[in-house]
Amino acid sequence: METTLIILKPDAVQRGLMGRIITRFEEKGLQIVGTKLMVISQDLAAKHYESHKGKPFYDGLVKFMTSAPVLVLAVRGIGAIAISRKMMGATFGSKAEPGTIRGDFGVSNSFNLIHGSDSPEAAERELSLFFASGEVINHDRAVDRWVYDSSGGKPE
Ligand code: RTP
Ligand code: MG
Repeated sequence: METTLIILKPDAVQRGLMGRIITRFEEKGLQIVGTKLMVISQDLAAKHYESHKGKPFYDGLVKFMTSAPVLVLAVRGIGAIAISRKMMGATFGSKAEPGTIRGDFGVSNSFNLIHGSDSPEAAERELSLFFASGEVINHDRAVDRWVYDSSGGKPE
């Protein structure tokens, strides 16, 4: 099982899209194991986006991400990182395919609704930035026996 860090960005919260976006993850079969509504501090935004420091869009990105509350989610499942990135769609709303979150709900390139970790290393780093120990809740789901085929011994 993988856990990924998803952020519903200020535009998603302000536009009342939290429920619809969370529903997509739940309907896919992924499990929500952590949630937090928060305003991201300058310091946290700088840590989260440290790999983008110095890029032309960095200042605007930090300003946007700290401008209003976000909903932070820990989302779990087999292959959750890649599956979530596919569900999000291409970075720019103008380019994202219909059927994806960015493709269906937005047109803007910078107000692109959602963040998702892009690798296992990034997920581990980002989860520890946003969630203290104990805030990600490990819990069994009865429905997992119908979400995953475990007949071969290991779920797939
Ligand atoms: P994210 O980190 O938010 O999940 O998005 P991403 O992986 O698809 O895109 P990334 O390259 O990591 O960029 C982070 C965020 O910076 C903004 N951005 N603007 N104007 C530009 O060229 C540009 N490039 C990136 C977007 O808000 C993007 O989500
Ligand atoms: Mg990224």
